[in-house]
Amino acid sequence: MIQRKKLVIANWKMHFNVSQASSLVAQLHKNIQGHRDIEVVLAPPMLSLQPIAQQIDHRRFRLAVQNAYHKDEGGFTGEVSFAMVREIADYAIIGHSERRIYFGETNDDVRDKVAASIRNGIKPVVCIGETSTERSDGQTKQVIHDQLVTALANVTSEDLNYVSIAYEPVWAISTFGGEKPDPDKIEKIFDYIRLQIAELYGEKAANNVRILYGGSVDDQNAWSLININGCEGFLIGSASLNYHKFTSIIESVYKFNRTKDNG
Ligand code: PGA
Repeated sequence: MIQRKKLVIANWKMHFNVSQASSLVAQLHKNIQGHRDIEVVLAPPMLSLQPIAQQIDHRRFRLAVQNAYHKDEGGFTGEVSFAMVREIADYAIIGHSERRIYFGETNDDVRDKVAASIRNGIKPVVCIGETSTERSDGQTKQVIHDQLVTALANVTSEDLNYVSIAYEPVWAISTFGGEKPDPDKIEKIFDYIRLQIAELYGEKAANNVRILYGGSVDDQNAWSLININGCEGFLIGSASLNYHKFTSIIESVYKFNRTKDNG
């Protein structure tokens, strides 16, 4: 596996008004140094995106949207398009399980959003993962396969370079129960995901896709999770709301990179 920058994304979900978001950013600035080999990405609620873009040191932090609409403009009351955030956001979280479960987002919606994101120069982070029922019914691989194949349906091999995949088993996400993940089992799914991408685009292209883990990542388990073979970062929900925990997770990733560099 080639060494490249790890990607650590703070998904604040629907937490913090603008001034609370700004206070957290100020704390993060104090605590998190720029690391050459880690990209730290903040995904605040949409309303805070612009003020935070003005507040952050862009050499240390990048920004993501948690969602956007796949059409660039038009009569779509209440929506914000990828085209509107392209100057601000480097990344877009797409197909998060909360979007799928609470807002009925389908695999086809995810496919359209991935295409819109790439069209607007924003790097998609495609979230996939099975629910606990799907897991107990033995459908994990099928679910992941279908989510992946549809999400990437309009992605060319060239565009694939901009895509990251976040494997977030729904049962591990704090919102849906927060069962603690077993790194050995997660590693098997990572292998499966990479294999599926290789079947679609070939092995070389598949190796260029960063695969992240998400679901109950915190300061206690970050070290064991970043040691999963093929894990190239995290998508973090609740622990990212606390700057102590988030900083400690970044430190684990940094330590992991240094260990690799020296070994
Ligand atoms: P969690 O959320 O870290 O709170 O489990 C992860 C996510 O929803 O992306």
